[in-house]
Amino acid sequence: MFKKIQAGYHTLLFYGGVLLFPFSPGTLAWKLFKNKKGKVQLTNRDLICDTETLMALPKSENSLDEFTTAFSPFIPLLTLNDHPWKLRRKILADGLRKINIEKDFPFDLPLKKGDIYWDVFEILFRIGYELIFGRPVTPDEFREMYPGIVDINRLIKRHTGSPNINVRWKLYHRVAALLSEENKKFIFSECHEFKALSEIDRVSIVVEDLLTSICIQCSDLICHLILLYSSFQEPFKNSLDHCINETLRLYPLTDIWTRKPTEKERGWIASLIQLNRSGWRDPDSFKPERWNENDHPQLVSWGFDARSCPATKIGYHLSKALFQKMLLNKDIWIQPASNFKHDRTFSDGCQVWIGEGARPILTTWKFKGRRKKQAQQWIASRLRMLDQGELW
Ligand code: HEM
Repeated sequence: MFKKIQAGYHTLLFYGGVLLFPFSPGTLAWKLFKNKKGKVQLTNRDLICDTETLMALPKSENSLDEFTTAFSPFIPLLTLNDHPWKLRRKILADGLRKINIEKDFPFDLPLKKGDIYWDVFEILFRIGYELIFGRPVTPDEFREMYPGIVDINRLIKRHTGSPNINVRWKLYHRVAALLSEENKKFIFSECHEFKALSEIDRVSIVVEDLLTSICIQCSDLICHLILLYSSFQEPFKNSLDHCINETLRLYPLTDIWTRKPTEKERGWIASLIQLNRSGWRDPDSFKPERWNENDHPQLVSWGFDARSCPATKIGYHLSKALFQKMLLNKDIWIQPASNFKHDRTFSDGCQVWIGEGARPILTTWKFKGRRKKQAQQWIASRLRMLDQGELW
C-alpha cells in the first residue's frame, strides 16, 4: 500500500513538473532524483537512476515507445521491434560499412559573433549527403531536403511544438526520387536486402537512421567540443580522445531511453542516467585525465545493450576529424557570450564569437533575444508533450 502511494506521489511530481517547468522530461527526471541509486517506481513504469541498476536489468531488445511525431512521416530504426528491427539494423550495418570515414572534407568554422549551431548543422548535412550518395548535394536537392531535416531537429530540440508536415513530405519525395536513380556510389547500391524493403523503410533508413542522425548527433557533439575548447585548450591539444569522453559524460547527447514492458519486467525509463553523479570523483568538473584510470562508472553515451548506437565508429571519427580540422591546427579563438549558458540541448543555440589571429582586448559580449527564446521554448516543449502524449 505504502509503495503504491509513493509511486502515485512520484508520478504526480514527475508528470506535474514536466507540464509546469521549463525542462525536458529527461532533464527534469534527473533534477528531481539527481544522484539516487536504484529505481524510482512510477505508477506505470520504473525510472532507472544509475548505471549499475541499468546494467543489472535483464537484456532487452524492446525499443522505445513506438509513437513519436518527432520523425513523422519517417519510421526510424529506434522505434522498431522484433523482425523488422533486426532486418533494418542488419541492412543499416551493411550501409555503414560502406561509408568511407577517411574521406577528407573541408570544414571551416564561420568567423562570426552569434549562433553557430545551424552553420555547423548545414555543413554536416552536406557531408552526410556526400557520404551516403557519393557526390555533393545539388542546390535543388538542398532546397527540398534541408528544411525537412532542420524541422526534425527543431522538434527534437523543442524549438517548435509540432512537425511541419509540408517540408517533411518534400524531403520524403526527394529522397524517394534519389533512390530510383542509378547511382553506383550510393552506399546501398549493391544491397539486395535494401532494395527489397518497402519505400517508406528505404527512405527512412536514408533520412532518419543516417542523414538526420549524422546531422544532429555530430553537430551537437562538435558544438559541445567547441564550447569546452574555449576554456580547456591545452587538454584538447594533448588528449583529444579523453576530452571527447569527458564531453560526452558531462553533455550526453541522448535524452531518454525507454524500454517497453516484457512478461517479467515492468517498462522503464532511464532518463539522463549518464548525468547521475554517484561513483564519479569531482563529478561536475571537466577532468579529461580521469579517463587514464578505470575506477569510475562505465561511459554509456553510446548506449549499452542490443539497441546501442550502430554508428559509434562513424559518429566518433567524423566529429573528431572535423573538430580537429576546425580548431586544433589553426590560430582560432572562441568567446562564448557572457549571458549564454552551455546546456545539453542547445536551447539557445551555440552563442559564440569566433575569431582568428590576434584577439581583441575586449571580447566580452552578450547575445540578444534570450528571454524570447526561452519563452518560445517553454511553449513549444509543452505543445510537443501534448501532441505526442510524451511519456504517458
Ligand atoms: C556522434 C555521437 C553519437 C552518439 C553519442 C550516439 C548515441 C546513441 C545512443 C546512446 C543510442 C541508443 C539509444 C537507446 O538505447 O535507446 C543510439 C542509437 C542509434 N544511433 Fe547513435 N549516436 C551518435 C551518432 C550516430 C550517428 C552518426 C548515426 C548514423 C550514422 C547514429 C545512428 C543511430 C541509430 C540508427 C540508432 C538506433 C539503433 C537501434 O534502435 O537499434 N548515431 N545512438
